[in-house]
Amino acid sequence: MTQPTVTLAGGTNIPMVGLGTWPMDDAEARRVVRQAIEIGYRHVDTAENYANERGVGDGIRDSGLDRSEVWVTTKFNRRWHADPAAGLRGNLERLGLDYVDLALIHWPNPDQDRYVQAWQGLIELREQGLARAIGTSNFKPAHLGRLIAETGVAPEVNQIECHPYLDRAAERAYHAEHGIVTAAWSPLGRNNGLLQEPLIVELAARYGVTPGQVVLAWDVLQGMVTVPKSSNPERLRQNLDVFDIPLTAADVAALTSLESPGLVPADSDVFGH
Ligand SMILES: NC(=O)c1ccc[n+]([C@@H]2O[C@H](COP(=O)([O-])OP(=O)(O)OC[C@H]3O[C@@H](n4cnc5c(N)ncnc54)[C@H](OP(=O)(O)O)[C@@H]3O)[C@@H](O)[C@H]2O)c1
Repeated sequence: MTQPTVTLAGGTNIPMVGLGTWPMDDAEARRVVRQAIEIGYRHVDTAENYANERGVGDGIRDSGLDRSEVWVTTKFNRRWHADPAAGLRGNLERLGLDYVDLALIHWPNPDQDRYVQAWQGLIELREQGLARAIGTSNFKPAHLGRLIAETGVAPEVNQIECHPYLDRAAERAYHAEHGIVTAAWSPLGRNNGLLQEPLIVELAARYGVTPGQVVLAWDVLQGMVTVPKSSNPERLRQNLDVFDIPLTAADVAALTSLESPGLVPADSDVFGH
């Protein structure tokens, strides 16, 4: 089954909708990853920090699909910034894979000032074929600017919290300027009020879809990768079926201009693991 993809700077094609796996444990991840692949997902998002990489790897193997057919993104924690090769080796061992499709530095952790070292390591790991693509997560433009200035290489992806309440316009503009694809985490706002927003409910009724699908259509229409989490088969199906929703440019703009009810993104200058 083919899925709409975005071509990254290094030439690989990442499926635009991936399965978010936080906060699944190994057993749940194993079951849901297999189910999601049967439904048609070809992209799974995990991390060392989610403590479910073993379940993700098992779910992929249980699906019977060739490993090369599934895009696997993972991330490593702050303690590996000084030794990213060891960090990625741990990811691969837990996943039971020879390579990942996308390896990310999970948070910049500027307090330890080693994220440039981590990035240099990822560049080498990509050359060695252990990661087909490399990137960052929760990096601010200032952090990205430093990576580019000191290594000459921009991340292929920066995964950040992004949804209509936190539309991250400045960050997305910076990414676009530097050929970095934005991947949206918590794209449904964790179903914590966003999906009850009157405009979103109204657009869902107008287009005969669910509020979650409206929000994910807002992602993909703008060229973002998105990793909604669901453990429910019906919602898994809905979240993948977002490519033919004819939101207009005015709808997209109206969604973008929704006011956040006091939400602010985690400050990655002070928070990170
Ligand atoms: N890079 C980072 O630092 C970072 C941080 C946080 C998250 N992430 C990634 O982003 C993924 C998604 O973020 P998230 O899990 O925080 O939040 P999310 O995907 O915005 O929301 C997940 C919640 O929405 C529900 N849901 C899913 N589809 C729905 C639909 N169509 N309609 C209504 N409700 C729906 C889910 O419940 P059901 O399961 O019952 O459907 C779950 O409670 C994570 O799993 C993880 O992979 C990355």
